[in-house]
Amino acid sequence: MEKVEKILKNSKYRYYEKKIEEAEKDREFCRHDIKHCIDVARLTLLLSYDENVPLDRELVYGAALLHDIGRAESCADHRQRGAKLCVPILIECGYSKEEAEEIASVIKSHGSPPSEDEKSFRSLFYRADKLSRNCFACAAEKDCYWESDKKNMTLVM
Ligand SMILES: [Fe+2]
Ligand SMILES: [Fe+2]
Repeated sequence: MEKVEKILKNSKYRYYEKKIEEAEKDREFCRHDIKHCIDVARLTLLLSYDENVPLDRELVYGAALLHDIGRAESCADHRQRGAKLCVPILIECGYSKEEAEEIASVIKSHGSPPSEDEKSFRSLFYRADKLSRNCFACAAEKDCYWESDKKNMTLVM
């Protein structure tokens, strides 16, 4: 995954990731670190195999690694901001303009629940982002702001 390797070494990506890590160092709730991003990529791919929705791995990992970089500035509107910040990074890393736009649109909508029967990159990605959180094993679950129907209280995949 040549383009994904380039993202990992990209100076803008590393700068945003470092800022988020510093801002969240004392956070008791889920963090938005590289571990979360890789979990989202792998879960998106698991869902895609399970539900026969073919997806390009470089697009999945590109979206997952960059989906929360908007949090480097602030949590509010992080999806909109991330959708803008990701494009120059993706282009520098060898993604085409069309691929960068597709990833930006997935990042922009990663907080909007898809309809139940939607089978798309966007819908699997949304679900993977939520599934990545192990609420059933989280010490801060009781104080978490997530609505109870969003929390993963059993291990699904
Ligand atoms: Fe997010
Ligand atoms: Fe996320």
